[in-house]
Amino acid sequence: MATVNIPDEERTLGEEAEVRDYLARIGITYERWEPAHQLAPGASAAEVLAAYAPEIDRLKAQGGYVTADVIDVSPATPGLDAMLNRFNSEHWHDEDEVRFIIEGRGLFHIHPREGKVVSITVEAGDLLRVPRGTWHWFDLCQEKRIRAIRLFQDAAGWTPHYTSSGTDRRYDPVCFGPSYIAGRGAVR
Ligand SMILES: [Fe+2]
Repeated sequence: MATVNIPDEERTLGEEAEVRDYLARIGITYERWEPAHQLAPGASAAEVLAAYAPEIDRLKAQGGYVTADVIDVSPATPGLDAMLNRFNSEHWHDEDEVRFIIEGRGLFHIHPREGKVVSITVEAGDLLRVPRGTWHWFDLCQEKRIRAIRLFQDAAGWTPHYTSSGTDRRYDPVCFGPSYIAGRGAVR
């Protein structure tokens, strides 16, 4: 279940309906795909895509996505820091950024043109669609682990265009989770 945080309001949302509604108002689609499809430990990318074929096909029909793949990142990923540094400063793309999280966590920051910066901590079962042109940036959480299905309208369109606004540097890359909601503090 995703957790939304609005740092400038010191406000955190963790209920599914309030998360979905808040994100919808800033143009971000959030879905919770439950129950999860059964995947064997160490399932290959092809097995993941096959298991989620019905959901992937639905999104393709809705959003004009033509291809899907699986990204797999862990602390052992070669060149991990260089990879992350491409996406952890504010940027936008010529196409939607669509991610369904299979394993691990990640932290999106969204910077609406009008409105407060919002962080979204995503975890397994969360589908997020960041429309083309949306200013955003991405970090991993402390465990540096994420496995996610990505959908593309045109794989060539997924080049980051940096805003160089400096907004990203005003927000700590802090992941939030249920334990924060329960008042036990932020989880990195
Ligand atoms: Fe991006």
